[in-house]
Amino acid sequence: MSFIKDAEIVVKALDDYRRESIAAEKPVIDQPPLAKLIADLDLKAHVAEGDLTGDRLSVFVKKYLAATTRLHHPGYLAHQVAVPHSAGALAALIDGFTNNPMAIYEMGPGAAGIEHFVINRLLEKVGWQPAPLNMQGSYAHIGGGGVLTHGGSLANLTAMLAARSHIAPEVWDQGHLNDLALLVPAESHYSIARAAGIMGIGQRAVYPLEVDDTGVVIPDRLPAVYRRLQNEGKRAVALVANACSTAVGLYDPLREIGEFCRENNLWLHVDGAHGASALFSSRHKKLLDGVEMADSLVWDAHKLMRTPILCAAVLVRDHRTLDNAFQQEASYLFHDKERPGFDFIHRTVECTKAGLGLKFFAVLAALGEQGLADYIDGRFQLALEAYEYISSHAEFECPAVPQCNIVCFRIRGSDQLQLSIRDKLISQGDFYLSTTVLGGKRFLRLVFMNQETGMNHIKALIKQIQQLADRLTSR
Ligand SMILES: Cc1ncc(COP(=O)(O)O)c(C=O)c1O
Repeated sequence: MSFIKDAEIVVKALDDYRRESIAAEKPVIDQPPLAKLIADLDLKAHVAEGDLTGDRLSVFVKKYLAATTRLHHPGYLAHQVAVPHSAGALAALIDGFTNNPMAIYEMGPGAAGIEHFVINRLLEKVGWQPAPLNMQGSYAHIGGGGVLTHGGSLANLTAMLAARSHIAPEVWDQGHLNDLALLVPAESHYSIARAAGIMGIGQRAVYPLEVDDTGVVIPDRLPAVYRRLQNEGKRAVALVANACSTAVGLYDPLREIGEFCRENNLWLHVDGAHGASALFSSRHKKLLDGVEMADSLVWDAHKLMRTPILCAAVLVRDHRTLDNAFQQEASYLFHDKERPGFDFIHRTVECTKAGLGLKFFAVLAALGEQGLADYIDGRFQLALEAYEYISSHAEFECPAVPQCNIVCFRIRGSDQLQLSIRDKLISQGDFYLSTTVLGGKRFLRLVFMNQETGMNHIKALIKQIQQLADRLTSR
């Protein structure tokens, strides 16, 4: 096996794949039955023969790529996953090749240095001063800190654990007495509810914050729910706000929420997994006005920052809160030693942790911060234009003016009609979109991640939806 020759085969296949995806020569999504797929890929034979190199690799990679969902296709409109910049994909190769589990500095100084750098850059974007690193490899001063995790869900859990250690440090040793609770907007990503479950807080102690009919938190209603929580003998671990919501992409009013949290000494956690990237845009950063009042923020690079999955940042205003989130010993890892750098391992659920920052850094360094801002502005603008176009048709309804790159809409008819339309679109292979429920109604949902997508694609999509609706309702 020749590494260079096989790498050339793979890179050439990927380049062809990108070209044919952008040109929409192949369906954006194609889901062969599982058993057929396993047979077609010849998995059993390859494992038996150990022959995946050269020509056989070439055949395999092409078949594999044919069985992918094509994010580079302009009809990819379904989810918030980045269409990765090729610089990030190459960085993923470097990370996979070097395989440095960099949570302890000695096992990946390059990756740890880059993580330190990108975390500090994100902290500055939030308006938090990063804590300076001292010569003993720890952060002696007060200031912001953070860590990269394998995804926003784990990042939310990590932030919740930091909040819990802050308000109830005794729980780590003693467990809690069923007195912990969370304040969470009714429209939140399910990873927050999962964190409550994992932490033993329980779904019944998740107090829903009142939201308007588009799912945005109503700040005037915060005192009532907080009073109820206190009257029921609970302590709030955190109040969660969305920037932005997953389903509709709307931002909660962070300044007003932040002021309420400050007055009541509540930990404010902002879930900015998708929407915090607006902080890179001078046009759109006002959507997060007040974010600096938060105690913690989650921000995914693998969503709006063109970074290959996974790379999510947990950021805290005071690094000590994250440093205290986990308290355990592992004599093989944690001991006195020379510390020219910083061990992130104290801040994470993970022990072995990939060099996630390298992928994100590579994208930032390829695009430049302004290039990233231009990408974000472009996708937000397209969402607005798509909204205006769709809502100019009498048979379509849009529940909200988009604030980011997410647009929800439905065509006149039942919830089942929306689902059937999505199914048909997926089987036709020109467009791949998702759906969501808002206010008890099912909506079709577009997420503009792909910079190849333009208004011509939206117009073609709407036409297909109209034709499908006619066909499906005239039966
Ligand atoms: C607001 C929000 N938080 C958290 C997540 C979970 O992030 P991940 O998919 O990286 O686990 C998502 C995913 O869509 C999200 O939209």
